[in-house]
Amino acid sequence: MARQFFVGGNFKANGTKQSVKSIVENLNSEELPKDVEVVICPPALYLGLTVDLNKQPTVEVGAQNVFDKACGAFTGENIAEQVVDLGAKWTLTGHSERRTIIKESDDFIAEKTKYALDKGLKVILCIGETLDERKSGITLEVCARQLDAVSKIIKDWSKIVVAYEPVWAIGTGLAATPEDAEETHKQIREHLAKTIGEDQAEKIQILYGGSVNGKNAPEFKDKKNIDGFLVGGASLKPEFVSIIKSRL
Ligand code: 13P
Repeated sequence: MARQFFVGGNFKANGTKQSVKSIVENLNSEELPKDVEVVICPPALYLGLTVDLNKQPTVEVGAQNVFDKACGAFTGENIAEQVVDLGAKWTLTGHSERRTIIKESDDFIAEKTKYALDKGLKVILCIGETLDERKSGITLEVCARQLDAVSKIIKDWSKIVVAYEPVWAIGTGLAATPEDAEETHKQIREHLAKTIGEDQAEKIQILYGGSVNGKNAPEFKDKKNIDGFLVGGASLKPEFVSIIKSRL
């Protein structure tokens, strides 16, 4: 079955009011393909600004992180209800920078994912192995463990997109080869078929992330299990548009 091509842009903790404005205005000025789902995730501080500036019907806005509880005494957290209130439709959860730098656990990420879905957000759930884990040959084991924490408490995956982002490929310029990425995506889908059922596994979009740019994006075009990209650095540049158009 055909899954819709999906391109996410994760700005990470980058930018200023002015640079975010120019990224969104640049997207507004382009004729984007109607059949590509695009989600941009600016820093939380610029979420409202981004939602207000965005005029593209195929572009939605997401947070990069949310907490697993409602408003309250949680200094500094992003609350899902407030993200919704600003008009954003998505959030990332489980980005490797939060798993490794902030030390978020699989279970905490699963709880955040559940809370975000319960509050009406769609979720890009990020998974992926570190270089050491890859060298030890446990890539699939790691991805399976990260996914299982979520499938343990969430049965309906229709509002989840999975982003496979090998940590060693993020921000390094060393993208996985399209063949390697396809192989891992295929194994991830097979694992999901066992845990959430074949029907849901067949429908779910699995994105590749890690050093995707305007030049290498078309190389992933014919890969059956790669349904799009989650882009970091290149989403801050005009080449993000070439990635969105890479399947034309
Ligand atoms: P880069 O595209 O900068 O490698 O980052 C990928 C990523 O982490 C997107 O979430």
